[in-house]
Amino acid sequence: MEKIVVCGGRELHGEVTISGAKNAAVAIIPAAILVDGVCVIENVPNIRDVHVIVGIMEHMGAKIEFLDKYTLRVDCSSMDKQTAPQEMVRKMRASYYLIGSLLGRFHKAEIAMPGGCNFGSRPIDQHIKGFRALGAEVACEGMVRASADELVGTSVYLDIVSVGATINIMLAAVLAKGNTTIENVAKEPHIVDLANFLNAMGADIKGAGTDVIRIRGVEKLRGGTYSIIPDQIEAGTFMIAAAATGGDVLVKNVIPKHMESVSAKLIEIGAEVTELDDAIRVKGTGVIKKANVKTLPYPGFPTDMQPQIVALLSVAEGTSIVTESVWDSRFQYVDELRRMGADIRVDGKTAVINGVRNLEGASVSATDLRGGAGMVIAGLMAKGSTEIREIQHIDRGYEKMEEKFKELGADIHRVFE
Ligand code: EPU
Repeated sequence: MEKIVVCGGRELHGEVTISGAKNAAVAIIPAAILVDGVCVIENVPNIRDVHVIVGIMEHMGAKIEFLDKYTLRVDCSSMDKQTAPQEMVRKMRASYYLIGSLLGRFHKAEIAMPGGCNFGSRPIDQHIKGFRALGAEVACEGMVRASADELVGTSVYLDIVSVGATINIMLAAVLAKGNTTIENVAKEPHIVDLANFLNAMGADIKGAGTDVIRIRGVEKLRGGTYSIIPDQIEAGTFMIAAAATGGDVLVKNVIPKHMESVSAKLIEIGAEVTELDDAIRVKGTGVIKKANVKTLPYPGFPTDMQPQIVALLSVAEGTSIVTESVWDSRFQYVDELRRMGADIRVDGKTAVINGVRNLEGASVSATDLRGGAGMVIAGLMAKGSTEIREIQHIDRGYEKMEEKFKELGADIHRVFE
């Protein structure tokens, strides 16, 4: 068992470099299954979810090696299985991207229902609707079994704006015959990144980043080199931590455009935010004002930043209201914040946060990946020592989080029990 121990109260100062985007990496790596040749993928974050997807694909016959810490060489030419062990698949949500990729290449996929953070029900009906529209037969009882004689371009209108469905249908459609149009799609930066990766390998995808994606099916994709975008959520986590501790941090290797909703909210709360070409400087002013936040699909305020902003608002002057509108249930971590003295009432999808003067160090758990990030921010602000357990959730998506905070002057370390 490992835990993170934080002694709060230190301002963060200095520079931090953001890693490649988790949610882009976990889509782009399985997308290499569609490629006839070798893909070299750069700026890959060194996190558990990446190692899990690499492990699953190796098990299926892919040859994957780290050329250095952040560069993967992926060769799926020898891949000979269209199924993967359930216990591996259940370790992460994004394993469902194997379905779109396998269906696209082999016209066959058998993958267990994916795991991932528990935010209530996480249906994949929109993914399945897209696969069926492309001509696949799909059965879904514990396992998702999809097969097709051929995939033929089609029109799909998503009932719900879904990142996963948008990506999975794109993956299944790039090698389909003819043209596919997907409407009401998600616009997250990692969707654009996946489309850029596939286009760099020879796909013909237009409109990623808008509401409509148009794909002209091509016969094959060739190998190439591609570099993953920086992680928007890791960047936002460090930006909030800088503001929360009253520090002054230069967050490097970011695309400031991706951070606009977070930057605007931090300015509203009282921080100084300066955008540079590929960096953002966040300076805490000592004032933390109340604010209302509603999570929304991109370009709205990201649901994956919700626990971090709630941790910050727990010490704001006045009462803030945070509304979760993407997931049914994403406030599990609030009980942990309460252990630290936060005054937060959750009613369905809304949290009412009465700002307190201080949080107090306590023994808490990371209930999920971003909830864990929220607890680290709370620990950095709190008086005294906070122990955070269940940090395997944090390791799924943050590369050496405690080391990056230590570099900024935090009193934080990982303890092996
Ligand atoms: N939904 C459906 N049917 C579907 C698909 C989704 O009803 O077929 C609903 C979901 O239940 C949810 C909403 O649509 O209420 C949005 O879900 P979406 O499909 O967009 O989420 P996801 O693809 O499963 C990705 C990220 C999450 C992030 C969400 C929203 C990855 C691997 N995961 O999940 O990231 O919260 O988009 O932005 O990209 C994280 O990184 O911590 C994380 C949880």
